[in-house]
Amino acid sequence: MLAMSIPGDSHDHLDRVLFEEATILARLDELAAGITADYQGKSLTVVAVLHGSLMMMADLLRRIRLPLKMECLSVESYHGGVESSGSVKFNMTRMPELSGEHVLIVDDILDSGRTLEAIIGKLSGVCRPQSIRVAVLLDKQTGREASIEPDYVGFEIDDLFVVGYGLDYQGRYRNLPFIGTLKPEHILPEHRK
Ligand code: IMP
Ligand code: MG
Repeated sequence: MLAMSIPGDSHDHLDRVLFEEATILARLDELAAGITADYQGKSLTVVAVLHGSLMMMADLLRRIRLPLKMECLSVESYHGGVESSGSVKFNMTRMPELSGEHVLIVDDILDSGRTLEAIIGKLSGVCRPQSIRVAVLLDKQTGREASIEPDYVGFEIDDLFVVGYGLDYQGRYRNLPFIGTLKPEHILPEHRK
């Protein structure tokens, strides 16, 4: 694989910022208020889909006023490109303990829906939770191939490849505090649309 040009200020690698940090956090306030109300009196475990949901998890969970539990799932679905590969690999030695729990799965972005379909299938079959719902920061509805409807959505976006706030391109840019598109010169020629 070609090495990308990685020096410089990562903020300058963005073409367009779609969601500023303050916009994201304001939306998470709203989502957290809804989740807090919906899960009153229920035993809630929030399951993070690594690595993309890390930023959202940290900011969302601190806004939810419930005595919840937290688990993480490590899956791979993208293999470094900009298109969904369709195959989902679980990289973990044990599945979380979720029996009888109300489970909220948190992921960064819902595109084809294949990743979440595989996760929901595995969790409901192996872990026997009482319920499973899905929260995603971004929803690319036009990319949908599986019949997954998220219960909590931060923002709907067009069919664009975005990075930042947990979302990566080839493992980079997850630490950007906002979400945006990359300048073409920072995308490998074979990944440009
Ligand atoms: P799906 O299985 O097609 O729904 O893909 C979901 C996963 O693909 C997400 O959890 C992301 O890791 C990755 N993904 C989809 N779209 C993007 C994007 O625009 N930027 C970065 N990662 C993405
Ligand atoms: Mg992901």
